[in-house]
Amino acid sequence: MAVETSVRCLDLLGLSAGQTILINGGGTMVGFAAVQVALERGARVIVTAGETFAGRLRDLGAEVTSYGAGMVARVREIAGGAPDLVLHTAQVTGVLPDLIQIVDGDPRRVMSIGDADEGKLGVRTSGNEPGLVPRYDALAPFAQLAAEGRFSVPIARTFGLEDWRTALELSQNKRAHGKLLLLPDGTPDLAPVLRPSGCAPAEHDGYGNITEQVWQAI
Ligand SMILES: NC(=O)c1ccc[n+]([C@@H]2O[C@H](COP(=O)([O-])OP(=O)(O)OC[C@H]3O[C@@H](n4cnc5c(N)ncnc54)[C@H](OP(=O)(O)O)[C@@H]3O)[C@@H](O)[C@H]2O)c1
Repeated sequence: MAVETSVRCLDLLGLSAGQTILINGGGTMVGFAAVQVALERGARVIVTAGETFAGRLRDLGAEVTSYGAGMVARVREIAGGAPDLVLHTAQVTGVLPDLIQIVDGDPRRVMSIGDADEGKLGVRTSGNEPGLVPRYDALAPFAQLAAEGRFSVPIARTFGLEDWRTALELSQNKRAHGKLLLLPDGTPDLAPVLRPSGCAPAEHDGYGNITEQVWQAI
């Protein structure tokens, strides 16, 4: 989901190498994936995020700032003016006017998936449009990058299939801070590879990466 959505949206926006993009919501899993997709395309990436993933996003090569009050000025200062494009991934409303202001008032340079623009500000949206072309073609290349250790999506917790209700409740609070995996019976024990014993806490911070080892285990 995170890869398909981010590739679809960045392609619809027309992001290309050398451009600067603001990803609003690098702490969402779509945003976390989109940062890596954009960097992989040779873009300069500025991202807003809270504490949870700020360090990991910096390590990936993004320039991180916080969301909330003062965001417009902070982002424009980092960018040295207006970024070329904006992708809004957080499920919050009310922030589109700020994002439009960041790109010199041009709503067509803003793509939103977290706010459907019911106020008709003119930003671009994707997800419910007629004729949507899902980008499942992007999954294999990014699975390959994950297998090579060059792409990851944080995993917050794993659950046995019987615990689906707990996973659903955690997902619905929108503060899962990573993907929640339901593991059907017979799935190999992923704990050793999700939280490798030799990894420094600062690197993994209680979360795991989808690594080559995970793919092999699966
Ligand atoms: N249109 C489509 O095709 C499509 C497809 C998939 C998903 N979506 C939508 O995309 C959105 C993201 O989904 P997701 O599953 O990736 O989300 P998620 O992982 O549940 O994102 C939650 C995170 O959002 C961050 N956040 C909260 N308030 C924020 C704010 N004001 N500004 C910036 N970040 C904020 C927080 O991260 P911090 O730790 O950084 O605070 C929070 O942990 C949802 O609205 C979902 O419905 C749309």
